Amino acid sequence: MILDVRGIDTYYGLGHILHGLSLHVAEGEVVALLGRNGAGKTTFFNLLTGQLAPTSGRIVFDGRDIAGTPSHRIAHLGIARSFQRTSIFPTLSILDNVWLAAFARQASWRGLAWRRTDGYPALAERAMAVLEEVGLAGKAAAPARAISHGEQRQLELAIALAANPRLLLLDEPAAGLSSDETQKMVALVRTLKGRYTIILIEHKIDVVMSMSDRISVMHFGSVIAEGMPAEIQRNAEVRRAYLGGIAPS
Ligand SMILES: Nc1ncnc2c1ncn2[C@@H]1O[C@H](COP(=O)(O)OP(=O)(O)O)[C@@H](O)[C@H]1O
Ligand SMILES: [Mg+2]
Repeated sequence: MILDVRGIDTYYGLGHILHGLSLHVAEGEVVALLGRNGAGKTTFFNLLTGQLAPTSGRIVFDGRDIAGTPSHRIAHLGIARSFQRTSIFPTLSILDNVWLAAFARQASWRGLAWRRTDGYPALAERAMAVLEEVGLAGKAAAPARAISHGEQRQLELAIALAANPRLLLLDEPAAGLSSDETQKMVALVRTLKGRYTIILIEHKIDVVMSMSDRISVMHFGSVIAEGMPAEIQRNAEVRRAYLGGIAPS
């Protein structure tokens, strides 16, 4: 088990947002998080990346409790979150943006070793490989500000992948994209299955049903159901709380 979250409670001020939330992820799994807007999904990611500390509960990642660990430390432990606009340097090339992300992960624990053994070409190779993966290799030299909205999102994903994360958090990867861009992004996310361990927050039920190994359903800050996609689809409580009329029957 790479991630084992137990009994998390979280507040924003007086607002009690997460109520005894528990969730686990095994290495290599794609676990989807479903839930209405405001259920606490993004808040949960904020906890996993160290932007927020729980008031109680445990977040065990790779055998150690990381609850309350600062985000830069968590990034180095191998948890990456995509779709953080702030991580893009607009005037730098796409390749340099990805290279920097790869470097930032390496530098803290092996900076000197890399320098001595001339590891930089390896990082450049990693950056190019990641750009191939997300379909941006052809634009490697373009400045990050010169690409389309959809491509920016591909770049954000590349930046997350460059660190070779042990756990990848995807928060509504296709949100705000046009239908063409959405199709591309969904296809791209599908290619990650089997190669990365992923928690996916996504509202498109067909995407979730077809690519998740397991689904956890959140409702008002707790997980109300957990299971294989087919089980979740049949679960009456889930249908009432979340799926409503949009569940395929
Ligand atoms: N920075 C914040 N300060 C105060 N309340 C917040 C903050 N962020 C989110 N919330 C509240 O926490 C609850 C859960 O939000 P969120 O985790 O974003 O839900 P989801 O991602 O499932 O839509 C909502 O009621 C939201 O209004
Ligand atoms: Mg959210």
